[in-house]
Amino acid sequence: MNEVVRLVQSFGEWRAAARDLIARGVPPASVQWQSTAGDGDLFSIAPAAPDPAPGNAPMLRLPRSLVELLESAACFNVIDRWAFLYQVLWRWQQGQHDVISPADADGSRLHGMAKAVRREEHDMHAYVRFREREEAQGAPRFVAWFEPVHDVLPQVARHFARRMGPISWMIATPGATMMWDGETLHAGPALMRGAADIDDAGEALWLTYYRSIFNPARLNADLLRSHIPSRFWKNLPEGAIVPAMVSSAANGERRTGQTATVGQRSGAAIIPISAERAQPVREVATTLDQCRRCDLWKSATQAVPGVGPQQAKIMLVGEQPGDQEDLAGLPFVGPAGAVLERAMLEAGVARDNIYLTNAVKHFKWEPRGKRRLHKTPAQREIAACHDWLEQELASVKPQVIVALGSTALKSVLQDGAATMTPLIGTPVQHDGRWVVTVYHPSYVLRAPDEENKRQAYRVIVDGLRQALQLINGGSFAGNVAAT
Ligand code: URA
Repeated sequence: MNEVVRLVQSFGEWRAAARDLIARGVPPASVQWQSTAGDGDLFSIAPAAPDPAPGNAPMLRLPRSLVELLESAACFNVIDRWAFLYQVLWRWQQGQHDVISPADADGSRLHGMAKAVRREEHDMHAYVRFREREEAQGAPRFVAWFEPVHDVLPQVARHFARRMGPISWMIATPGATMMWDGETLHAGPALMRGAADIDDAGEALWLTYYRSIFNPARLNADLLRSHIPSRFWKNLPEGAIVPAMVSSAANGERRTGQTATVGQRSGAAIIPISAERAQPVREVATTLDQCRRCDLWKSATQAVPGVGPQQAKIMLVGEQPGDQEDLAGLPFVGPAGAVLERAMLEAGVARDNIYLTNAVKHFKWEPRGKRRLHKTPAQREIAACHDWLEQELASVKPQVIVALGSTALKSVLQDGAATMTPLIGTPVQHDGRWVVTVYHPSYVLRAPDEENKRQAYRVIVDGLRQALQLINGGSFAGNVAAT
């Protein structure tokens, strides 16, 4: 036998009918639930409407948490909601209390429905936008249009009634309206969307403000979308201007957009300046870390200063920090450093006694997949960094400089055209110091074959030995040239 329950349009009506059916022992399969005018009509009953008279149906004893869960899930807009709720109730009455456990299939659906309803309530609190309209006798002062997915208008209306106190308003949705006259909530029939289309001076002001705080350079469209789901945008006043602002940001306004807007305002002009010029003007940068003499600082982790005793007689000058040096903040700690270490050991040069530095103090690199690939510094970068090397030379006062590779040689000799080949094996005097020229240790690693590697390595070891001889009384016996 099929029982047909009619006129179930509210939780109260469903509860009364369900109570009666349970009392008569009617199982879910025998009940066909219907709403007179479709399941979306929950709103046409005022939210505070009392339950229909329970008749002779006995009281159902249910835990409060279950009633609340059922009441929340009842707002979930789905065709079988009343049948489903009755099934849950029936199972509970049969002693199957795990029906409200999230581990149970029905329990899981029940919790999912309640959660979706809570979320919809929250979204409606956040995204309902009231527009103010002209004073008119008896008409609400503020109106809003919203399209909720679930039947949450009554409880949301109670929320706004509490929030807005004596100010009258109306929220229209495709299914129903709720009006607050400052004292009482009134449920009304559905209105057309246009009912809330009003020219609102406050809204114009809001849009102007919204446009002016929009910073195209900081736009993250994905984040914007994830914070405000797109179905809400169309009813937000700013929704009308956001797509245009997003697309002009994508089309180049990122760089200029806000400056242009800000620049049109009266008052002090604000013009874009480069990161370099944003630094305070100073003749000589006071610390290496703040050096902005060239652009390499922008992509380096840190400046890498020289290390070693301040009275070192030998100073080894490399090219620039590599990937590992950039991260560690120390020179020659990577693979080239290992080659150098071996050569120093073989030449009898104690690392503790020498000062180790680079011609360029920031790591210059380009991305290659996930790797940072070394890039040879340009002459302007070598020249820009030379002042730091001068400061180290002035304070350490080494007797011998060993230039490791071409960049170091150019910087030490301050000659962008200097070449290594004629100077290998031939120390030169420069500015009152010896300059010994050897290959860069990384050349040993890159050399095309074993023979080239061996020769390059020998040049480094020999050069280090020459440096030792030069500091030990200048007893160097090879060629000597002056620059
Ligand atoms: N290569 C250099 O020239 N210097 C370092 O510090 C590391 C690698």
